[in-house]
Amino acid sequence: MSDTQDNKRVGGSAMKALVLSGGRGTRLRPLTYTGAKQLVPIANRPILFYILDNIARAGIKEVAMIISPETGAEIEETMGDGTRWGVKIQYILQAEPKGLAHAVITAEEFLGESPFVMYLGDNLIGSGIKDFTDAFMEGGSCGTERAEAAILLKPVDNPSSFGIAEVGPDGEILGLVEKPAVPKSNLALVGVYLFSAAIHKAISRISPSPRGELEITDAIQELLNSGAKVDSKILDSWWLDTGKKDDLLAANTIVLDEWFGRDISGEVDDNSTITGRVTISKGARIKNSTLRGPVVIGPDTVVEDSFIGPFTSIGGGSRIIKSIIEHSVIFSGTIVDHVDRLEDSLIGRDAKVVRCRDKHQALRLMVGDDSVVEV
Ligand code: TTP
Repeated sequence: MSDTQDNKRVGGSAMKALVLSGGRGTRLRPLTYTGAKQLVPIANRPILFYILDNIARAGIKEVAMIISPETGAEIEETMGDGTRWGVKIQYILQAEPKGLAHAVITAEEFLGESPFVMYLGDNLIGSGIKDFTDAFMEGGSCGTERAEAAILLKPVDNPSSFGIAEVGPDGEILGLVEKPAVPKSNLALVGVYLFSAAIHKAISRISPSPRGELEITDAIQELLNSGAKVDSKILDSWWLDTGKKDDLLAANTIVLDEWFGRDISGEVDDNSTITGRVTISKGARIKNSTLRGPVVIGPDTVVEDSFIGPFTSIGGGSRIIKSIIEHSVIFSGTIVDHVDRLEDSLIGRDAKVVRCRDKHQALRLMVGDDSVVEV
């Protein structure tokens, strides 16, 4: 998949990648009670697939993924050894989610003296990272002094909810603040960071924050305090932190809209109408239904007597019967039966959403912890 040669920091070793796929995932409960948030499907592909696409396209060959005891096996099984992307993936267990800088410590042996990109496993961006990594490996974009780190930034409307950077005229970072009450800028830290080996020493000098984590922002601030240069780049495409519920549906909408075309590999009967950019995977069967794209239907899913409207992803092995669904993400193995209208919804794996047809019209629910039901 990679179309570039190994990139080298002048006189140094090739860049490696560290993908953070551990963590607690509390913000995406209940989905993360049973699965890794980094594997949540966006347009029926796990988020981590998009991240690996970007890493491979940047010419990086050696990747380590930080995993947790709870979801590590699932991530390893899904991602494999990296052959799919032409890279080598190894897995490093972080026994507890003690912070992003702690994850770097956990990977010290893998990283050695190499420069590396640290990529948060639940962040999706609308462009590649090759220009960013190339500029860093060539010596940075501002001034002549080489930067020891570079961070990707994106203007946001609510800077008090993010890690925020104060930036000088040449893009150099002046300071970082986590969720500032009075923000000095609106530039939030996107979850893609570039580091030289100097970050290890900086991390060794920081202590856990009030929330008990070793924060990467503290380590970068430590680099700045020691006189090192930290560079930045403003991301000119979109950025979504899919670890948040609202961003997940938004990510599905954007990815379906921008990256998916028309591809009908499944069966469509003569009574069905397929309009626009619709992907129907192998083994899927569409009977007496209307699908209006952008829509993606997973393998072996059956859609019968239904309308599937724009910005909907339906995972593999599902059954959609006599229902109307729009702007929703439905994971695999799910049944939706006789539901008049399902909108803006996120439905996990192997769930059943079925209209109750008894005369009382009662709701009969079996809903897991932290679920949201709007009726
Ligand atoms: P976060 O989303 O900041 O943390 P979290 O996963 O604990 O989520 P929540 O706030 O919903 O409880 O983490 C960003 C990414 O980094 C995510 O992919 C998980 C990963 N991570 C680790 O691998 N190790 C860690 O110690 C932490 C804190 C996060």
